[in-house]
Amino acid sequence: MGERKRIGILTSGGDCAGLNAVIRAVTHRAVGTYDWEVMGIYRATQGLMSRPPQAVSLDLEKVGDILTKGGTVLGTTNKGNPFALPMPDGTVRDGSQDIIEGYHLLGLDALIGIGGDGSLAILRKVALQGNLNFVAIPKTIDNDVGITERAIGFDTAVNIATEALDRLHFTAASHDRVMIVEVMGRDAGHIAISAGIAGGADVILIPEIPYTLDNVCRKIKERQEQGHNFSVVVVSEAVCTETGETVTWSDRFGECRLGGIGQYLADRISTCTGAETRVTVLGHTQRGGIPSPLDRLIASAFGVAAVDLIANEKYDHMVTWQQRQVVDVPISEALGHYQAVDPNGTLVHTAKGLGICLGD
Ligand code: F6P
Repeated sequence: MGERKRIGILTSGGDCAGLNAVIRAVTHRAVGTYDWEVMGIYRATQGLMSRPPQAVSLDLEKVGDILTKGGTVLGTTNKGNPFALPMPDGTVRDGSQDIIEGYHLLGLDALIGIGGDGSLAILRKVALQGNLNFVAIPKTIDNDVGITERAIGFDTAVNIATEALDRLHFTAASHDRVMIVEVMGRDAGHIAISAGIAGGADVILIPEIPYTLDNVCRKIKERQEQGHNFSVVVVSEAVCTETGETVTWSDRFGECRLGGIGQYLADRISTCTGAETRVTVLGHTQRGGIPSPLDRLIASAFGVAAVDLIANEKYDHMVTWQQRQVVDVPISEALGHYQAVDPNGTLVHTAKGLGICLGD
């Protein structure tokens, strides 16, 4: 069984459904199987930078009721880069050494980081700098982390978006409207194409496929001519305007956020088809709520496998989901392959085969 280890676990980047299922699985495997100690670190790297470090010892009782809970009981952040922390006087400070020191202050033998490509890249950089034993687990509703077929949170987000499309069909038909549904996904259209197919959309626009408004409006007019009085359009948040601009807004911290392409399309579709349009921005509903069974399952498999990687001292690796199995790969390999929707792949082919307009 080897030495008794003390391992840390943190959640980083935006939250999603399934994070607590990972925390639970890691605790079960580490405490239950290996008799190790697990420290749950609060608010991603912020917990390691705090003095004293902010963390809680996790046991089977503490994780007993978190499997079905959305969000993360450890908290997280998707703001700021610890290598360039903004200071009140406008300068930036490198906090990476504080993270490394926090790891040692907690007496950790290894750290499991659950994140998307951005936060995992930062964690890996810190781990390499400090020679920390680091293992990664991919999570993101965007499903854009390389190599892994699935990241935790994606399935739940697709379920939520699909359910929204199911609901919107009825109200669209009742009012003879074109419903535009804006979904998240950052630069990848995975949520849009998956939910769009599953939810029977008429038009799906994703950042990976350029579109013209003419093509979109032609599809809606065709439906009108065939006696279909309504249409449902799904658009991914990073789809650009026809002239190539990303639609964004700035929050009060000056951070640029994607959002608004749905309204842009609604105005233009209404003008060119004469239809009444309405926009639904699903936003953070896609990240919240009870994790789907598939997300719980993958989260559980990833949690167990990540602890086993530590037991085998196989560091700087990430667990991935490939052909119904957990396969570990070097983190650098996964982060080196951004996973966008393949314009020649099965889902695009399926959508076209169903007569769904992709705008091209
Ligand atoms: O990366 C996950 C994600 O939900 C994206 O799909 C979205 O663009 C972004 O995070 C929203 O971030 P925030 O929670 O900061 O608004």
